[in-house]
Amino acid sequence: MKKIGVLTSGGDAPGMNAAVRAVVRKALYHGIEVAGIYHGYQGLIEGNIEDLGAGDVGDIIQRGGTALYSARCPEFKTDAGQQKAIEQLKKRGIEGLVVIGGDGSYRGALALTEKGFPCIGVPGTIDNDIPGTDYTIGFDTALNTVIECIDKIRDTATSHERSFIIEVMGRDAGDLALWAGLAGGAETIIIPEVPNDIDGLVKRLEQGHERGKKHSIIIVAEGVMSAGELAKLLLEKADIETRVSVLGHIQRGGSPTARDRVLASQLGAKAVEVLMENRGGVAIGIRNHMVVDYDLKDVFNKEHKADLSMYTLSKELSI
Ligand code: F6P
Repeated sequence: MKKIGVLTSGGDAPGMNAAVRAVVRKALYHGIEVAGIYHGYQGLIEGNIEDLGAGDVGDIIQRGGTALYSARCPEFKTDAGQQKAIEQLKKRGIEGLVVIGGDGSYRGALALTEKGFPCIGVPGTIDNDIPGTDYTIGFDTALNTVIECIDKIRDTATSHERSFIIEVMGRDAGDLALWAGLAGGAETIIIPEVPNDIDGLVKRLEQGHERGKKHSIIIVAEGVMSAGELAKLLLEKADIETRVSVLGHIQRGGSPTARDRVLASQLGAKAVEVLMENRGGVAIGIRNHMVVDYDLKDVFNKEHKADLSMYTLSKELSI
């Protein structure tokens, strides 16, 4: 392969820049040219593409967001959109594409591969919901951001002897809420992977209160319900008053942690290695601390599973 492309797509995630840097530098190191595609699949269709040198990805390893910008692109879901994208790539002599993003971005990568253009998926999303990889780029940074917020909210919860509901992102997955809940010492974690039990929650809160617990932190994953809805339910059902905090897009920003930078560097470089072997339709991931590659189709045939032993542990520790 003489020239490859790289793009970031979907919701941005801290560490995407480190992954882009790794793709560009690894390719250049091996004498392969790299084109940066700006604004994700939208930019690809529109031909928003520029060649990148080693210096173009200097000074970005520490930056959150994505220097290549990102977008969600409905046109790319159509056959015509995908054909236009392939024409743009071929016009510039690009022979393989690295897509850094979440499962929506992977769908696009699979569609192009099935049309004969080799693509590699690198997992970049704070949701940690891509089947086949233990971690996604951005998850660790988002988790640490959430923890910082929980710690701050806990200060005021303690001072005022109040209960707080904190709503955490994650789309349909509970990983961010689960990890944040365990690491933040939350009294209760509500995630999509565990059936919702409001009566049980009320009982726990009341029992805690009877034992002298004056404040509590409840983490709710956005995939279950909003913090506002939960607050309303608790008030109506049991006259329990809470304060609500929706962390929102703050979770997507910030300088990536060392862990995310290392992961992004490893996975980005591996994507180039796979393209150098003339392989496409491949997903890159990390399992048991080992960088792995696997069939991109597996992302859609398999399910990401949250580690529910952490849920049980959190319950045991938050008595
Ligand atoms: O997939 C990342 C994510 O931040 C989800 O956690 C969240 O549900 C969604 O993106 C928000 O998307 P948008 O930024 O388009 O509102």
